[in-house]
Amino acid sequence: MTFGIIMKKIRIGLIGCGTVGTGVVACIKNNAALIAARCDVQLSIVAIAVSDIEKKRDFDATSVVFTDNADTVVNSPDIDVIVELIGGTTDAKRYVLQALKNGKPVVTANKSLLAYHGDELFRVAAENGVDIYYEASVAGGVPIIKSLREGLSANHVERIYGILNGTCNYILTRMENDGVDFGDVLREAQDLGFAEADPSLDIDGHDTAHKTCILASLAYGEWIDVDQIFVEGIRGIDLQDIRNAARAGYKIKLLGIVKFDSSNIQMRVHPTLVSADSLLAKVSDEFNAVWVEGDIVGPTMLYGRGAGQDATASAVVADLVDVALNICFNSSRRVPPFRPHNSYNDVLSMDEIECRYYIRLSVDDVPNVMARIAQILGESGISIASVTQQELASDHLPIILITHTAKEVELNRALSKIEVLDVVREAPVVLRIEDIENDRDR
Ligand code: HSE
Repeated sequence: MTFGIIMKKIRIGLIGCGTVGTGVVACIKNNAALIAARCDVQLSIVAIAVSDIEKKRDFDATSVVFTDNADTVVNSPDIDVIVELIGGTTDAKRYVLQALKNGKPVVTANKSLLAYHGDELFRVAAENGVDIYYEASVAGGVPIIKSLREGLSANHVERIYGILNGTCNYILTRMENDGVDFGDVLREAQDLGFAEADPSLDIDGHDTAHKTCILASLAYGEWIDVDQIFVEGIRGIDLQDIRNAARAGYKIKLLGIVKFDSSNIQMRVHPTLVSADSLLAKVSDEFNAVWVEGDIVGPTMLYGRGAGQDATASAVVADLVDVALNICFNSSRRVPPFRPHNSYNDVLSMDEIECRYYIRLSVDDVPNVMARIAQILGESGISIASVTQQELASDHLPIILITHTAKEVELNRALSKIEVLDVVREAPVVLRIEDIENDRDR
């Protein structure tokens, strides 16, 4: 018996050809033969919609039709799949919806589009019997979407911890390793091409929240309102907090956190102290990592480049291979990605969460200060795990407290009393601690 192998050509239309699009073109040029040998599909970019068709491109585009009218690409009967790479949530949404209604599968790297409109887009995709693939939307080249959707499909997801923003991880790493100030290192990340056009999306945590929303929605099968995610960025992180954390055995990482918590879920994005010995603490520079814990498999972790041209292109092209195979085998919607599992009741408010805390206070160097602070914390049922007081040649004294597990509502109650004490000079700096690998916080 012989197997008739027929090489299927898949005609691709790109909407947008900036950093990622150029990477996709290069990846297909370099590895199309490898992909063809591996999967019997020939990926071929036939049309690219860009705003400036006169712009000189870094690649040979002689066999590609360039247009400044994306509608012609989306509506062309000669294109099998649309790759949306323009970003944003208005034009991108319109093109994606039109492509889906035309029965074309879509590959997108657009995390904000999915975080805000995933519900509608996946409903329209289902109505039209086509797929949306979105591996590049979370953690760049790290195949976390496929892992959650397929590799871990036998599991109930208990916890996800993600370092999901390359820009923030790069900034925090440089601050820690080289003592560089926040502002200087942000400019470096922009020059390296990691940062969003509007870098506040990175540093204020919203990009991580969009990605966390996608992961949580995938884990529990229904689109979560991104506005339900608590978001705090890294703008307020001071070098002294990074140094204090290091002295206490921690590193500070911006984490996207999803936790199943007694039939409810927690979803939050904030700078977090993690043990310096933990795997996540060792994720440096623009690298991303996602820790996923399933009820059956236990902990797993994926690591890789979370931003940049080639990493993102790798994920987009992997999605194109999936789409191509679906087309070859007439098997769209092979992996239904969003079907409510009815697996949680509510999203917990921050008042309801419990963790350990790092607190930095700036106080007058006078008798009885520590006792007054400890008394207020004690009255709120908050137990102090460690106290560090630094002797300085100044009349202000930094005090670093690390607490045992406490409820956030109780902590805030205590802090509201502490910050108005006559001996307290500045608003307290509070960072949350997660004991990820030793389950101390569970
Ligand atoms: N600005 C994003 C980051 C790009 O720094 O991770 C990848 O989504």
